[in-house]
Amino acid sequence: MIFSYYNTLMPLKPLESKRIVLGVTGSIAAYKAVDLASKLAQAGAVVETILTPSATQFITPLAFQSVTGQGAYVDANLWGAQAHVLHVGLGHTADLFIIAPATAHSMAKLANGTADNLLMLAALAYGPGSAGRPLLIAPAMDGGMFEHPATQANLETLRQRGAQIIGPEAGHLASGLVALGRMSEPLTIFGLARYALTRQGPLSGRRVVVTAGGTQEPVDPVRVLTNRSSGKQGFALAQAALDAGAEVTLIAAPSAVPIPTGLEYIPVEAASQMEQAVLKACQNADALLMAAAVADFRPVNPAAQKIKKSSGIEAIPLEPTTDILAAVAAQRGRTGLPLAVVGFAAETQNLLANAQAKLRAKRLDMIVANDVSAPGSGFAVDTNRVTLLYPSGKSEPIPLATKAEVAERVIAEVVTLLNK
Ligand code: CTP
Repeated sequence: MIFSYYNTLMPLKPLESKRIVLGVTGSIAAYKAVDLASKLAQAGAVVETILTPSATQFITPLAFQSVTGQGAYVDANLWGAQAHVLHVGLGHTADLFIIAPATAHSMAKLANGTADNLLMLAALAYGPGSAGRPLLIAPAMDGGMFEHPATQANLETLRQRGAQIIGPEAGHLASGLVALGRMSEPLTIFGLARYALTRQGPLSGRRVVVTAGGTQEPVDPVRVLTNRSSGKQGFALAQAALDAGAEVTLIAAPSAVPIPTGLEYIPVEAASQMEQAVLKACQNADALLMAAAVADFRPVNPAAQKIKKSSGIEAIPLEPTTDILAAVAAQRGRTGLPLAVVGFAAETQNLLANAQAKLRAKRLDMIVANDVSAPGSGFAVDTNRVTLLYPSGKSEPIPLATKAEVAERVIAEVVTLLNK
């Protein structure tokens, strides 16, 4: 909770206290829905589950209750004192409705408005899906059923009305077939839920470009010159910008960090590729966050064939790469975009003086100064210790925090910069 006092615009946990109804229908993928429920609950959401009668053949309500700490309802709950509140109330009060897994039969019922069980009643009460009240449907079925014109027509009906359909994926199915029909992975559905619930944030309608990772400059077809950047801070910035409602383009050098759901991902390798991608993306961007560790030098003449050990290497002549932020500043001089440009300074000595010099030289609106040699800070670790510097000379040290928290703090500054 380090940053709660900084900027009340920014949600610390975008799913915190969001009310989610998770509908589970009768597919073997129902066991994966427990993992989804758990992920949503761990992210702070209030998850209530509704199981159809056939879902209960695969999995019990207790499994969902156990991971969510909330009610898991079945058709028997339709009768009795709670009945009215349940079938209408669950749908009415939800911020998000997810049906995962959704069988072909359940989608047919929903497309036709057949409300013969608690889940269908609640889904009808919730509505067809819209930006403010998203409905996510993750189909799961056996091979051939998904392609059937009837299923496709039902899906199209649901999509046209406002539902978002996730997957299904191709792969091994319970019947032994390898075909289209596997429910999307819980992490994918979780990512889309997070995306759907954060569209109204303070950066809604803004386009944000983020760069991440260490560029790779080829020496020969198998060897590269690169640096220790893991991409973690850049990817966290992209996630925080998404959580603030922005449309995000992430231009990243090779990285092992999972790609956040809902952004445009542009993989690059060398600094020259990153430069091209950044200049293009910045033509209509509101903000650029240049977190990538861009190589300053590259081999002059990368070998066309692998350099053999037996032939040896005397030296690898290097030449400077383009400074991407300098190229952005030149383009910005002509177009006025991006409105805000944030740089990062990776230093091992004289942190503030060096960062302040880069802020001026690269004509930035803010620089995030990072002593990469300090404990708990810099490359590969999950925490960071940074200072924010501004053209006015103002500097603001941020206490040791996770990279996600640093990212939220930086994005809160971008909100302020863009609102100026
Ligand atoms: N940067 C860039 N293009 C480069 C090198 C760096 O746009 N060819 C950006 C980085 O993404 C970062 C900022 O410039 O936002 C500062 O990068 P850093 O590596 O700290 O500084 P350099 O400009 O490379 O200077 P030095 O290596 O001398 O510290």
